[in-house]
Amino acid sequence: MRWWQNAVVYQIYPRSFNDSNGDGIGDLPGIIERLDYLEDLGIDAIWLSPVYQSPNDDNGYDISDYQAIHPEFGTMEDMDQLIKEADRRNIKIIMDLVVNHTSDEHQWFIEARKGKDNNYRDYYIWRDPADDGGPPNDLKSTFSGSAWEYDEKSGQYYLHLFSKKQPDLNWENKNVRKAVYDMMNFWLDKGVGGFRMDVIDLIGKKPDEKITGNGPKLHDYLQEMHQETLKDKDVMTVGETWGATPETAKLYSDPFREELSMVFQFEHMQLDEQPGATKWDLKELDLTELKSVLSKWQTELGNQGWNSLFWNNHDLPRIVSRFGNDTDYRVESAKLFAILLHLMKGTPYIYQGEEIGMTNRKIESIDEVDDIESINMYNERLDEGYTKEELIRAINVKGRDNARTPMQWDDTHEAGFTTGKPWLPIQPNYEQINVEAALEDKNSIFYTYQKLIRLRKENPIVVWGEYELVLPEHNTVFAYKRHYKNKTWLVLANVSRNETSLELPDEAQAGNIIVSNYDRDTIDLAKIALQPFEAIVVELKYSS
Ligand code: GLC
Ligand code: CA
Repeated sequence: MRWWQNAVVYQIYPRSFNDSNGDGIGDLPGIIERLDYLEDLGIDAIWLSPVYQSPNDDNGYDISDYQAIHPEFGTMEDMDQLIKEADRRNIKIIMDLVVNHTSDEHQWFIEARKGKDNNYRDYYIWRDPADDGGPPNDLKSTFSGSAWEYDEKSGQYYLHLFSKKQPDLNWENKNVRKAVYDMMNFWLDKGVGGFRMDVIDLIGKKPDEKITGNGPKLHDYLQEMHQETLKDKDVMTVGETWGATPETAKLYSDPFREELSMVFQFEHMQLDEQPGATKWDLKELDLTELKSVLSKWQTELGNQGWNSLFWNNHDLPRIVSRFGNDTDYRVESAKLFAILLHLMKGTPYIYQGEEIGMTNRKIESIDEVDDIESINMYNERLDEGYTKEELIRAINVKGRDNARTPMQWDDTHEAGFTTGKPWLPIQPNYEQINVEAALEDKNSIFYTYQKLIRLRKENPIVVWGEYELVLPEHNTVFAYKRHYKNKTWLVLANVSRNETSLELPDEAQAGNIIVSNYDRDTIDLAKIALQPFEAIVVELKYSS
């Protein structure tokens, strides 16, 4: 067994976690101040969103120096201190590795831009204009508009699958690969616990053939990376792969292939958008689809891969507002989604604030938005004739700022996040929803997360048990079993605001209640009645 197989990872978005010096921006010393809190929660590792030198066009995902800390976050000494202080609490630091692209202010790109003969020119992807002088082809940027930007000086275009300040690296160039591996080794030598690899499925791209994800050389590069950096190190790696299927996930995470520990797949996070459209084209979630997608991932990887389990990150809206209910049943539904996910097989990830049920951010106008993706989409779609109202609605539902509002620590000035003025406004509900209040209330969402983490440590069934979906057709109840040796646990979750009764096709008796989100100490399996957003895990007893 590898350490990350019964681990729980906590993601920190540093800008919004904790500000130690009153400039309104979270920072590394601020994280160190809160390590005791994370230790109390029980997590094993922190995935740290980027803290490197960056002009912040995409909040740090545009890196201008991989081996320097952005001064707004602190210094390299602070970083070393964080690694050390976390280690004292048995917490590993997972760095965000953003190597599909750099910032246009990275030294490599500054050089590359100097001209066609520059030694760094080929670190990036340059093409001549099409015959009409326009971009080489119609590849689109994830952040709207063409993926090609014209460079006056050389009369060529460069590729940027994200913003034009995020030029794509040319992974076909072996000097690029070598430079990335050296940089990774720099961080490994500092004792980090691994890497989360940003949009890693794009590095094998073939832009002329309009192939972006899953390019032909992708797995060769990852195997080479493994040999040059990760091999023989007891670290974990998780690739961000938006297009992954169980088949491709095995290519990344089959231990015999020596690539990554696991990937983030996003199929379950795309079920509330219209098929074939974009994330902004909204659709109601159909629970049976969510059940079938997650169950497929639970069963299909087998021993040839490992799942990551998540509802949230810094790019996604808050789960309690998204699939749950952030008004009448906020506490119940937040706990329900926690229970559903943390009883599955794989490595769970908690995104900061999820453990206290933080909610989405409501905006009324585009002036309130910080995120480049939302702003670019808004401008592009306004030109295409969409109304302001529908665009603001889409941003309220799906925009990335939803998850990026500062962490709510207590009910004092700016929720205890900063003594100054936060870079993004604090949510108005901080007086009720905050860490201090959660710690004081034994029935809070926080303690459900703490308990779920402990269950994973103490019960091999949670880590290794076989997964079986129950009642696949039921459209409000998500139910599944885990089987391990002679044990069976049943997870039941009523994902709706209505009471539900149901019958289980099972001859089992209820044993111990393992965890639940209502005050309940028994359940009659012959006639189950579930409260709104009730979730319960019960051990099953079979008389034989
Ligand atoms: C990933 C990151 C996202 C970023 C993008 C470009 O999807 O999670 O925040 O904007 O890559 O680096
Ligand atoms: Ca600060």
